[in-house]
Amino acid sequence: MNIAVRIDPNAEADTVPLADINPARPERFQANTIGPVFARLRREEPVHFTAESEFGPYWSLTRWEDIMVVDTNHQDFSSADGIGLPNLKALEEQDKVFAAMGRPRRRGGAGFITMDEPEHTVHRKAVSPTVAPANIAAMAPVVRERAGQILDALPIGRPFDWVDLVSKELTAMTLATLFDFPFEDRRKLTYWSDMFTNAPGHGPAKSWQHKAESAIECFGAFQELWNQRIDADPGIDLISMLTHNPTTREMSQDQYQGTVVLLIIGGNDTTRNTISGSVYALNKNQDQYDKLRANPDLVTSMVSETIRWQTPLAHMSRVATRDVEIGGKTIKKGDRVVMWYVSGNRDESVIADPDDFIIDRERPRQHLSFGFGVHRCVGNRVAEMQLTIIWEEILKRFPRIELVEEPVRTYSSFVHGFESMQVVIPARN
Ligand code: HEM
Repeated sequence: MNIAVRIDPNAEADTVPLADINPARPERFQANTIGPVFARLRREEPVHFTAESEFGPYWSLTRWEDIMVVDTNHQDFSSADGIGLPNLKALEEQDKVFAAMGRPRRRGGAGFITMDEPEHTVHRKAVSPTVAPANIAAMAPVVRERAGQILDALPIGRPFDWVDLVSKELTAMTLATLFDFPFEDRRKLTYWSDMFTNAPGHGPAKSWQHKAESAIECFGAFQELWNQRIDADPGIDLISMLTHNPTTREMSQDQYQGTVVLLIIGGNDTTRNTISGSVYALNKNQDQYDKLRANPDLVTSMVSETIRWQTPLAHMSRVATRDVEIGGKTIKKGDRVVMWYVSGNRDESVIADPDDFIIDRERPRQHLSFGFGVHRCVGNRVAEMQLTIIWEEILKRFPRIELVEEPVRTYSSFVHGFESMQVVIPARN
């Protein structure tokens, strides 16, 4: 098999031999043709092995139950070697660039999401108060005010990019508040996040050199915040939480930088793509949009349904620490296992009519999008709060937000979202 060959993202999912399926290739995600591939794997080989790929060999889990088995078993499935699928060649290139700049990089360092127990819980606990219900409730009025300002400034009757003017702006504002980051520079958080997650040639990332320069700029800015806050009175922001917790106060520069990357990406792309995903889903399901307008109390369950339907992070991965049998196959110690949340959320044996977007499902929070087990998303309530508020404010203002054309999707099998989405708001209420 020639792993360098690019797949045709529109090729029929059913004609590829099972053994050649490499679901992690970003092309099908960008073309939005990945659904049938996962439907076939769920049907024919729910625990599937890709022997050779640009990501190395890996297992794919596509059914709800199997994903749950791995996500809730942190003893046998480690996060320490990274939670995305590493593109091996890309990592090599990146390391070369960093080394040439005199900054050799440590592998796997993406904060506590790539730590195992007991270290993981200690670090997670340090930032948890910032995203706990009391702090979220305190932040909500600020987020609401800012959401209102964003919406009031939108053009009426003229197409614009929803991703840029709303989704990125709202998440940048919220993240700047969580970090107590200089508010006027908030879009730097969006930019750095995009630079971390995009491969060269995609999003704003031009080259590995460009990505490395952006990372260095980001780490420099966050080092300054650390230096300012380490001896200042403790605030409720994420950086103060880290500088004033006895354990994280002592963490290495590498660990701090990893945590910054985790929080920037965690707080940015996911929520942003859910905000855009909600506009897309409601446009593709006008009956649901009508239902929502008739009954704004459905916002909360619509938000959860969007998080399931969109699945903003398509997967997380683990490495087995011993031989484990799943679905009659043996995952060997050292093997990488990918939990395809985007597929588990479409598992027809658990979710009724999973391809349909239904905003008043009986159990709307029944989805895999936040993961399960010790690494379950620490920011899930912050995300839900932002989404709920933006939709409550939208419904007060606009009868419709109309999709003008199909959106441009992200070239990634990890971040499952949109580069841009042209919409028009015909009129105010
Ligand atoms: C709809 C929005 C979001 C989605 C779909 C999402 C999804 C996820 C997923 C799938 C995980 C890993 C779960 C696992 O491995 O079992 C995770 C972890 C995490 N998320 Fe989120 N996330 C969202 C919003 C946020 C926000 C707003 C923040 C920050 C404010 C955040 C911060 C984090 C952090 C720090 C972790 C690591 C938790 C740990 O390792 O203990 N996320 N998220």
